[in-house]
Amino acid sequence: MSALDFGALRARFPIFSERTYFATQCLGPMPAEAYADLFEYARTLGLRSRSIPLWLERMAELIGLLEQLLGAEAGSVALRESATAAQAAIASAVTPRPERHRILFSALDFHSSRYLWSAQVRRGFSVEEVRPEDGVALRPEDVLRHLDERVALVALSLVSPRTGALLDVVPVVKAAHDAGALVVLDAYQAVGVVPVDVRRLGADVVVGGTHKWLGGGGTGLAFLYVRPSLAERLLPAYPGWIGHREMVGFAERYEPAPGGARFQQGTPALEPIYTARAGLRFVLEAGVERLRARNVALTTRMLARALDAGLSVKTPHEPERRGGMLCFDLEDGSSVVERMAALGIDIDTRPGAGVRVSPHPCNTEQECDRVIDELARLTRR
Ligand SMILES: Cc1ncc(COP(=O)(O)O)c(C=O)c1O
Repeated sequence: MSALDFGALRARFPIFSERTYFATQCLGPMPAEAYADLFEYARTLGLRSRSIPLWLERMAELIGLLEQLLGAEAGSVALRESATAAQAAIASAVTPRPERHRILFSALDFHSSRYLWSAQVRRGFSVEEVRPEDGVALRPEDVLRHLDERVALVALSLVSPRTGALLDVVPVVKAAHDAGALVVLDAYQAVGVVPVDVRRLGADVVVGGTHKWLGGGGTGLAFLYVRPSLAERLLPAYPGWIGHREMVGFAERYEPAPGGARFQQGTPALEPIYTARAGLRFVLEAGVERLRARNVALTTRMLARALDAGLSVKTPHEPERRGGMLCFDLEDGSSVVERMAALGIDIDTRPGAGVRVSPHPCNTEQECDRVIDELARLTRR
């Protein structure tokens, strides 16, 4: 694996010349090329109906790039407006049966996933929350003890947005499949910083979005991979014309598109599709393995400095058990985030997660040290 010149790559992200930016877990730095794509989108607006073929081309191009990123089969990835909508499309295609009606989700997932899966009780599912024994990171055995032949679906995050823990998911997928259950993996906090090869992971559905570690500009764009042989068996209960076999045929009857595309629905927002391409190209050019190696080096450095300074780090300390961010147990996280922002440092906080800090691969070692030193100074009693 050849080394990348992160100093040179850094110049491609305008935010780094304005802020000490450590909030990729929320909104990732966006390459400057995304502005050119946004202007290109603005130009198409003037074309009105003549823009449609151009838009469809951009959608197909983006899907191709996502399939490349995920090591996915052609035609297996679909675009949706949010990760919640992507998971909802799958939920709608799975029906409870008396002998198979349980859904497992985790206490470490994004809140929206919990709302979505819990709501399936109204459709006849029973739902159960899987909790990590240590409160921070799920171990495969934490999930395995809930599995039986009544489980229809297991929904988990690859990297927890609450603790930054990275799930050892392969044994979970294997056990879930042995029990006859589907696995829906929310990889939003992983894609772009942790290698996600859908065929190696074996998950049935992998969901992600573009505006965090993939450096997409606009919000409102997510995607899902559906294992091709499974996609053929699942029918979305809320289909739309973008998921029709003949997208612009406008037939009277819905016929599902082959593969993942059937989970698409109505006319998408085009602005995030245009502004997602540059970030995705950056990740593909740099290579996720190299981005991961750089991120691990930076989080390892920050972790050591934080522990020396007496800060409490919730995220697993072993690099192979964490994603791209570190979560700090700090009192009054909102005030810490505000005071850091006043120093030009962007981080964030979420209830239960503490203060979340993400070094982007293009952050420098000096910036990492400064973030920890300021955190320690602001929270010293
Ligand atoms: C793990 C994870 N999943 C999903 C989301 C977002 O979901 P949605 O696109 O539905 O807003 C986030 C963060 O915003 C997240 O951290």
